Amino acid sequence: MLHIFFLFVLLFSSSHASVQDFCVADLKGPNSPAGYICKAEANVTVDDFVFTGLSKAGNTSNLISAAVSPAFVAQFPGVNGLGLSIARLDLAPAGVIPIHTHPGASEILVVTQGKITAGFISSANSVYVKTVKRGEVFVFPQGLLHFQVNAGGRKAIAFVSFNSPNPGLQILDFALFANNLTSALVEKTTFLDPAQVKKLKGILGGTG
Ligand SMILES: *[C@@H]1O[C@H](CO)[C@@H](O)[C@H](O)[C@H]1NC(C)=O
Ligand SMILES: *[C@@H]1O[C@H](CO)[C@@H](O)[C@H](O)[C@H]1NC(C)=O
Ligand SMILES: *[C@@H]1O[C@H](CO)[C@@H](O)[C@H](O)[C@H]1NC(C)=O
Repeated sequence: MLHIFFLFVLLFSSSHASVQDFCVADLKGPNSPAGYICKAEANVTVDDFVFTGLSKAGNTSNLISAAVSPAFVAQFPGVNGLGLSIARLDLAPAGVIPIHTHPGASEILVVTQGKITAGFISSANSVYVKTVKRGEVFVFPQGLLHFQVNAGGRKAIAFVSFNSPNPGLQILDFALFANNLTSALVEKTTFLDPAQVKKLKGILGGTG
């Protein structure tokens, strides 16, 4: 009798399931901390759950000799609401992903080619740094400043996954030297000398 009752509960609850299977982002709608609104299910296709953009190397002809190719919700609407996303890192021999933070997510990195020196700095200012090679994994706790540097003298590739569809990204040097925060305030708040601030603003395009 009890078994029949549970079977009934199971059937009843599954035929009236209130849990949504997915919520592919409608990128035309507003974004919020809870994500995007859902695209109408009738318009969802398998291609909403496939992202091919990470199959190609990113362009590393730039200041950092590196490329970050994100498959965050803005590029890959299928991850909306799923609590995860992924990106590809390409590092030319001199490549570096400068010190940065993802305010919204922890990050786990797996090297698929070459060697990468990866590290983060804790709130206690302890440094955790190690060189990892193909097949090895490094995890960066949420919000902490971290970096990746090519350590192998040849091209390196890694894939990084985040426990948010929208991890956010703030690069420390760009925050300090690539905007119009006045040099006087940058010097005052960083203890750097004027020549160094002028030089970095020149390289990164800051004004003021
Ligand atoms: C599905 O997409 C078509 C074409 O973009 C649109 O006209 C239609 O309103 C969409 N259906 C729903 C239910 O939103
Ligand atoms: C890579 O980026 C550089 C600098 O923006 C550009 O000149 C070059 O054409 C790009 N290469 C490819 C293959 O897109
Ligand atoms: C600095 O940039 C912001 C927007 O990026 C702008 O609103 C502001 O007027 C600028 N300030 C100066 C002093 O240029």
